[in-house]
Amino acid sequence: MSKIFQQLLFILPAFGAFSPDVMAQTNGQQLYLQNCMVCHADDGSGGMPGVADLTENRNWSTISEEKLLERIKQGIALPGAAVTMPPNGGNPDLSDSDLKLIIKYMRMEFTKK
Ligand code: HEC
Repeated sequence: MSKIFQQLLFILPAFGAFSPDVMAQTNGQQLYLQNCMVCHADDGSGGMPGVADLTENRNWSTISEEKLLERIKQGIALPGAAVTMPPNGGNPDLSDSDLKLIIKYMRMEFTKK
């Protein structure tokens, strides 16, 4: 067995040691900050005027993951709103599994208080 292969065998289980929840937390947070923070702020409170505070207005956190995923993919245009949310927050490259990580992160972090 080559030395490098032996080292890989040693290193890979170390990554496996992260629980799925920790992975969701890390990746979901990163994806959220890259794609959603510009309008929703890092803490979900809404950085841009006209964007609701998602930590106060929590209907989004009570609908099913599938429904919320569809809403995020469609984009959100509320009647009379000054700002509308483009599909995927404007990033067509986000996959369903990326969006589910973001949803998981938002549900963990923005419904605490
Ligand atoms: C260009 C600004 C913008 C970006 C970028 C953006 N949003 Fe939004 N988002 C909005 C607006 C505006 C609303 C409507 C808020 C309101 O009720 O006033 C909204 C609402 C939401 C809601 C509440 C949905 C509901 O059913 O009421 C969720 C959840 C959400 N956004 C998630 C995301 C996620 C996830 C991303 C990143 C992938 C994202 N947003 C990126 C502007 C944005």
